[in-house]
Amino acid sequence: MRLNETQLKEIEELGYIILPNCFSKKEVNKIREEMKTVFDEKTEANIIEKSSGVVRTAMGLHLRSSFFSDLTRHPNFFEPACQIRGNSLYIQQTKINVKAAFTGEVWQWHYDFATHSGEDGVPKPLALNLHVFIDDVTEFNGPLFFIPKSHKYGSAPSKLDTITTNYPLWVVNQQTVRDLVKENGIVSARGRAGTALIFVDNLVHGSAQNMSPMDRAIFSAILNPCDNAQTKFARPDYKHGRNFKPIKPSSVNSLLN
Ligand code: SIN
Ligand code: MN
Repeated sequence: MRLNETQLKEIEELGYIILPNCFSKKEVNKIREEMKTVFDEKTEANIIEKSSGVVRTAMGLHLRSSFFSDLTRHPNFFEPACQIRGNSLYIQQTKINVKAAFTGEVWQWHYDFATHSGEDGVPKPLALNLHVFIDDVTEFNGPLFFIPKSHKYGSAPSKLDTITTNYPLWVVNQQTVRDLVKENGIVSARGRAGTALIFVDNLVHGSAQNMSPMDRAIFSAILNPCDNAQTKFARPDYKHGRNFKPIKPSSVNSLLN
C-alpha cells in the first residue's frame, strides 16, 4: 500500500493521517485472537490499569509473538512509513492499548517524542506511530484526540507524570494545550475496525477514559530511522527495542497464514 502525494502532504501538514479499510475483517479477527494469547501471559510487559487491574497496555509484542512481528512489518505499515522516513527503519516499540469498556483510563495530553528523547535519548522527532483499530473506534469509547499541526511548534514543555495512571508519561502543561487548541482545534481519530492511522513523534495527543460499554483496543507500532536510534538504555527492551537493524517487510498475506 502506497500513499499518494495528497496523503503525503496531509501528514506533513496536519501531523497525522487516517487510512480506512487498511486491514480486512479476517485480518482484524486474527489480531483479536492473537491478542487474547498475549494478554493472558503473566509478564511485566503487560501493564495494568491503576483502579480496575485489567490490562491497560501489552508491550513488546513483536518480541513475544511472530504474528505481531509480521503485523509490525506488514507492507500496509512498512511501505507508507518508508515513503515518509526512508527505507532504514527499526522497531522501536509495539503494543496494544486496550481502553476496556467502563474501566479504560485516560492518556494525558502528551507527544511521544518527550518520552523518546527524555527517557531514551532519541536525537530527533522522526519516529512514526502506526495504529490499527482492533475495535470500531467512536466518539464514545475513548478515541485518540489530536491537535492538528501541533508538531509544527517544536517540542512543547513537558513534565513526567507518574501518578495519574500506571504508565509514566511526559505530559504537556495545560496552558500550552490551551494555546495550541485555540489555534488549531481538536480532532478525534475515529473509524471502523481495520482502520489504520499514522502520526508523527511530536504531535500533541491524548485520550479520555472509556465510560462506554464498548472496548477500544488499538495496536500500535513505532518505527524509527536506524540513524536516529536511542542513545540511553534505561528502559527495558519491551518499551524500546534494541535491534537497530533495518526491518524487512512481511508478506502481504502473512496475517492470514
Ligand atoms: C498513546 O498515546 O500512546 C496512547 C493513547 C491511547 O491509546 O489512547
Ligand atoms: Mn502517545
